[in-house]
Amino acid sequence: MIDSAGGATPRAKDDMTDQSPVTQAAVKPVPTLPDAQTVTEVQHYTDRLFRFRTTRPQSLRFRSGEFVMIGLMGDPDPATGKQKPLLRAYSIASPSWDDELEFYSIKVPDGPLTSRLQHIQPGEQIILRPKPVGTLVHDALLPGKRLWLFATGTGFAPFASIIRDPETYERFDEIIVTHTCREVAELTYSREMIEGLRQDELMQELLGAGLDKLRYYPTTTREESARMGRITTLIETGEVFRDLGVAPFDPAVDRGMVCGSLPFNLDIKALLEGAGLREGANSEPAEFVVEKAFVG
Ligand SMILES: Cc1cc2nc3c(=O)[nH]c(=O)nc-3n(C[C@H](O)[C@H](O)[C@H](O)COP(=O)(O)OP(=O)(O)OC[C@H]3O[C@@H](n4cnc5c(N)ncnc54)[C@H](O)[C@@H]3O)c2cc1C
Ligand SMILES: NC(=O)c1ccc[n+]([C@@H]2O[C@H](COP(=O)([O-])OP(=O)(O)OC[C@H]3O[C@@H](n4cnc5c(N)ncnc54)[C@H](OP(=O)(O)O)[C@@H]3O)[C@@H](O)[C@H]2O)c1
Repeated sequence: MIDSAGGATPRAKDDMTDQSPVTQAAVKPVPTLPDAQTVTEVQHYTDRLFRFRTTRPQSLRFRSGEFVMIGLMGDPDPATGKQKPLLRAYSIASPSWDDELEFYSIKVPDGPLTSRLQHIQPGEQIILRPKPVGTLVHDALLPGKRLWLFATGTGFAPFASIIRDPETYERFDEIIVTHTCREVAELTYSREMIEGLRQDELMQELLGAGLDKLRYYPTTTREESARMGRITTLIETGEVFRDLGVAPFDPAVDRGMVCGSLPFNLDIKALLEGAGLREGANSEPAEFVVEKAFVG
């Protein structure tokens, strides 16, 4: 069993039938919000990044990698005094078998939601609309041998779900996580999670004898670190393939999931298409899938 950053023992999917939360927070307030879930844990990484966990409605089924709408009640309308939910798309960072839900979040100083969400405390409630959707799912990829997960910033969130799902290791021989951030501290969430998975006894069986089935390739662009540069540049120069000792992208072998800003997604998409991989969707699986980590 590992800690919440790494995961916990998978539970039977058939257990998820009623509406009551699976977990009990220390404080159990009476729900006052529509679709309320209770925050169970909060961890801050930098002044721009934090993660939090919430109770999970037992009826909520989702595929690892999907996103939901979450939020808080907005400020009262000055004229009517009425409050409306303030909702934003969030990738579920926990895997589909987890008893709780985890989210990995930006803090936008003047952001309507995150300027408030960043102050959330265990025992408080958030709104969660239980309609998961998304393209970063195994169903949208054709079978392959090597899965590349390309993330920048909070784009790692859906991959935190994917790499904690045993199905990922059943489907692929090798999983390579690339995470590019401006600064070293912004890599803490992904680094700690991958270290946690490698130390987890249950995961060790899935990761193979040398624990080398899950590979981590972090890079920074604005602060000195062991590996510097945009992942797109490292792909173009071939450095990433040399560093990892793998062949360049091959549509017969490689599959990709991409999650970052729009310019990042477009640049990776062009590189993958240049190597002959095609973009897939739930309705038409192919060699790679893409989703925006944020709008704007
Ligand atoms: C499919 C999808 C999944 C998403 N998943 C996540 C997630 O797992 N975690 C998360 O933190 N956000 C995620 N987002 C972004 C999220 O929906 C909100 O935009 C974010 O929470 C900020 O909300 P806000 O109301 O404070 O500011 P907004 O008004 O929504 O955003 C203000 C500005 O902040 C910047 N911004 C917003 N989100 C981010 C971000 N994540 N990283 C860097 N800059 C950003 C953009 O420039 C944006 O124009 C996702 C967005 C989409 C479309
Ligand atoms: N991160 C911060 O410290 C910080 C602080 C204040 C405000 N902001 C604002 O917050 C927003 C999001 O910042 P963010 O750092 O989370 O996300 P971001 O700007 O998308 O950058 C995240 C990482 O992705 C890289 N990247 C960006 N575009 C790319 C592309 N087309 N191809 C390959 N790599 C690419 C960046 O490299 P480069 O460094 O080379 O761009 C950076 O390492 C921005 O509008 C930013 O101005 C960020």
